[in-house]
Amino acid sequence: MVTKLKINVNGLRHDVRAGLDTPLLYVLHNELHLHGPRFGCGLAQCGACSVLLDGKEIRSCVTPVAAIAGKRITTLEGLPALYAAQRGATGAAPALHPLQRAWIDLQVPHCGYCQNGMLIQAADLLTTTKNPSEEQIRSAMNGHLCRCGTYPRILTAIHKAASVMSAAS
Ligand code: FES
Ligand code: FES
Repeated sequence: MVTKLKINVNGLRHDVRAGLDTPLLYVLHNELHLHGPRFGCGLAQCGACSVLLDGKEIRSCVTPVAAIAGKRITTLEGLPALYAAQRGATGAAPALHPLQRAWIDLQVPHCGYCQNGMLIQAADLLTTTKNPSEEQIRSAMNGHLCRCGTYPRILTAIHKAASVMSAAS
C-alpha cells in the first residue's frame, strides 16, 4: 500500500509516497532523483547502493524506506555538507568532501560503478577513525566490490583525505 512518508535526506525533509517495504534506493532514485547510490546486486553484497544512516553505512537496496523514519540519510551528494557540519563550519558547504577531492586528484575511478559505495564507506570510516592504518582501511572497505580493481588507488586516496582532514581540524 502506498503511504505518505516524511524522510530526512541530506539535511532536508522530504514528503514522499511509497510502500513501506519499498527499498530506500528506489525512493532516492525515483522520488528524490538522487543517483549517487547505484543499483548493483540488489542483495546487500556489492555496496554500490550504500548511503549513511545516522552516519553509518547501510545498503539502501535492502533497507525498507519505513526503516529510516526519524533518522538522517546522507547520500554521496550530501557528503560535502556532512563534512561541514562535522567541522562545525558555518556558511556554504564546500563543493567537495576531502574524500571526493582526493578521488579526483588521484583519478581513482575506472568505470565508476562501485565508487559511490567506496566513498560512503570511507566517509563512515574517517568519521570514527581519524588516521586509519592500512589494515583498518582494508578491513572497513572489505564488503565493497570493485570489478575494475581500483583498490590500490582507493587506499591511497583515503590516506590522503585523512591527512587533509587531520590538518584542517
Ligand atoms: S546494490 Fe545494494 S549492495 Fe549491491
Ligand atoms: S571502478 Fe569499475 S567497478 Fe569499481
